[in-house]
Amino acid sequence: MHTEAERGEWPRTAAILGAGTMGLGVAECFAAAGITVRLADATPELAREAREKLVLRARGHAEAGLLPEEAAGRAEGVEAAGGTEEAVAGVDLVFEAVPESVGLKEEVLGVCSAAASPEAVIVSNTSSLPMDDLARFVEGQGRFCGMHWFNPPEWTPGVEVIPAATTDTGTVERLVGFLRTIGKRPAVVGSGPGFVANRIQNALFLEAVRCVEEGLASPEEVDEVVRSCFGFRLPFFGPFAISDMAGLDVYASVLGVLRDGLGERFEPPRMLLDLVEEGRTGTKTGAGFLNYTDEEQARLLIERDRRYAALLELLDRLPPVGAGRGEE
Ligand SMILES: NC(=O)c1ccc[n+]([C@@H]2O[C@H](COP(=O)([O-])OP(=O)(O)OC[C@H]3O[C@@H](n4cnc5c(N)ncnc54)[C@H](O)[C@@H]3O)[C@@H](O)[C@H]2O)c1
Repeated sequence: MHTEAERGEWPRTAAILGAGTMGLGVAECFAAAGITVRLADATPELAREAREKLVLRARGHAEAGLLPEEAAGRAEGVEAAGGTEEAVAGVDLVFEAVPESVGLKEEVLGVCSAAASPEAVIVSNTSSLPMDDLARFVEGQGRFCGMHWFNPPEWTPGVEVIPAATTDTGTVERLVGFLRTIGKRPAVVGSGPGFVANRIQNALFLEAVRCVEEGLASPEEVDEVVRSCFGFRLPFFGPFAISDMAGLDVYASVLGVLRDGLGERFEPPRMLLDLVEEGRTGTKTGAGFLNYTDEEQARLLIERDRRYAALLELLDRLPPVGAGRGEE
């Protein structure tokens, strides 16, 4: 988590509406970065309890050596508000993280946008609700945007920024700039079902469940394959960089076999076939989904290997935790 010294000027103050799994983690992250935070939950009592949990959580992170004492201590300054209106009064940024129900989001976004300053930016952490539907509940739609964090929010760097059709460009730029100053890695994505991350994550999950259902492997074995085979690369490379390195012609052939065996969900996409037909088969030809300069092409493999060697060392030091692995 980044601390105040590394942070920009905006926002100085933020309201978190819904202090549950996500809201509390984001509150800790904001507070650690020196932002003045107010929490609201369904009742004032729940907001007070959430504040206590937040203080304990930040202290736990400090005790584990994961957060400097001073940054963790800022959680003590987080205020529990009596309700939505009190929480948003005068703040620069409103972060909505109430449960994933359209009715609840409508109520909370309506109340908070009426009560907040007209300059306040309002974001929703929705995982799946279409941003244009939510924008309709907000007064001053240009300042409303999706900002989808991932659990645990204090540590996961990626955040999807999802503009609605009515979101001002300035709002998007401001949010992206802010997220970078607190050490996050924002990506601006469109508002299709599941946005980008949940769509891809769930495609993976569906195939994992099917592998178990069909008796190919146990859940433990599937987890090991995902984590240790292709998943091993994912901290450094996404699917386009990985397929470019493997060869897009190889991917097209493999997908053909999968389509014949498993059906049309594996049909090789036109975009992939076009690249192969154009001879853009990846790093070996200097271009695939991505373009590579001669220098990048020359350095890519050794830089890749440097990262994989470092990751192997980290895995030796901190082996996976969880079921059957002796988690403490
Ligand atoms: N849990 C995840 O991994 C995750 C990840 C990304 C996004 N999200 C999204 O974030 C949002 C919150 O999810 P969560 O997992 O933190 O839920 P949660 O149930 O842990 O927390 C929601 C909080 O909102 C409070 N709440 C209920 N009604 C309220 C109201 N009227 N005003 C203020 N607070 C109210 C609840 O008491 C609770 O503390 C959802 O939109 C969810 O889809 C969740």
